[in-house]
Amino acid sequence: MSSEAQFQILHFLREKRGEFVSGEEISRSIGVSRAAVWKRVRLLRRLGYSIEAVTSRGYRLLASADTLIPGEIREGLKTRVIGQKIIYFEETDSTNMRAQELGRSGAVEGTVIVSDCQTAGRGRLGRSWASPPGVNLYTSVLLRPPILPQESTQLTFLSAVATARALEEFCSVESRVKWPNDILLGGKKVAGLLNEMSAETEGVHFVVLGIGVNLNMMEADFPADLRHPATSILLETGGRVSRSGFARCLYRHLDDLYQLFLEKGFPPILRAWEAFSDLSGRRVSVDLQGETFQGAVIGLDSDGALLLHREGRGTARILAGDVRILDEPHPKGHS
Ligand code: BTN
Repeated sequence: MSSEAQFQILHFLREKRGEFVSGEEISRSIGVSRAAVWKRVRLLRRLGYSIEAVTSRGYRLLASADTLIPGEIREGLKTRVIGQKIIYFEETDSTNMRAQELGRSGAVEGTVIVSDCQTAGRGRLGRSWASPPGVNLYTSVLLRPPILPQESTQLTFLSAVATARALEEFCSVESRVKWPNDILLGGKKVAGLLNEMSAETEGVHFVVLGIGVNLNMMEADFPADLRHPATSILLETGGRVSRSGFARCLYRHLDDLYQLFLEKGFPPILRAWEAFSDLSGRRVSVDLQGETFQGAVIGLDSDGALLLHREGRGTARILAGDVRILDEPHPKGHS
C-alpha cells in the first residue's frame, strides 16, 4: 500500500470520529476503486487497527494501533523541514543505509526514514544495534546543511539534544547525554545516535542523523552480550510509549534545533547539549580502538571534541571514543 493512501484512509476515518464513512465516499475522495479501499482496510487491520466494516454503512475506526506508518506520524506533525516526506519500512537492514541511498539519489532535505525493525541495525564503531520489531524507534533523517565536512560532527550534538528533549517532554524522564552520542537514563543507555555524511572537500552533500530509542523493549529483548548497561522507557517507568507520538515529538525538536543551527550556528546547540551533560571536571577514561586516554575533562571545543587534561602530559583533544567516568560507581546492569 502506498504511504499516501494509508495516510488518506486513516485521516478520513479519524475525522469521522468513530462514525461510519461509506466505501463510495472514501474511494471518490482518494481516487481509488472501492475494491482498493477494501484491500487497504484489510492491510490496516493486519497492522493492528480495529476497523469495523458494515454492508451499506461503510467503515469506522474503532481503535488505532501503535505503528509507525506515515499516516500515524504525520497526523498533527507541524515542522518546517523534518518529516516533510516520511518513508516507512516494515523491515529493512538499516534506516541509515536507506537514507544514504536516498541522499545519493537526490531526496529532499528533511526526508525521514522509519522502520518497524532492522535486520542489520548499525551502531557506532562498527557495532550492531538491537532492533526488534514492534517496540522501539529506529529512524534516520536526511539533511543537506550548508556546512564544511569537518563541521558535520556538530549535528551529532543537535540530535542528542533533540532526543533528550523529546524524552523529557513525551516520556517525562530526565536523561543525560554521554559524549559524544549516548543518551543515558540512570547510567544505562536508552538511545544511540549514528550520524554519517557524504561530502567532498568543499562541502557536504548530505548528512544522515540515525537515531535509535529503546521505548517499549523488555529485558528479554536485549541481546545477552551487550557491552554496556542498557535500558528502555518501559523498563524505567513501567509505562508503554506511543511510538508515533514519540517520533512526532522528536522530529519537532529536531526541526526547531536545526532552524536554530542554520540561523545561529553551533554555539547555542553546544550550550543546550552541556545542560544535559555532567562531564565537566570529571575524571574519565576514553577508549578508542585499543588506545586509552585518562584525565580530567576540561570541556568541549568549538567542534565538540573532548578536551582532556592529562596530568603531566598536557591536553588531549579527542574526536571519538568510549567514555567511562572514573570518579563515580559504575551502574549495575547488562554488560
Ligand atoms: C550507537 O549508540 O552505537 C548508535 C546507535 C544508532 C542506532 C540507530 S537505529 C536507526 C539508525 N539506523 C541504524 O542502522 N543505526 C541508527
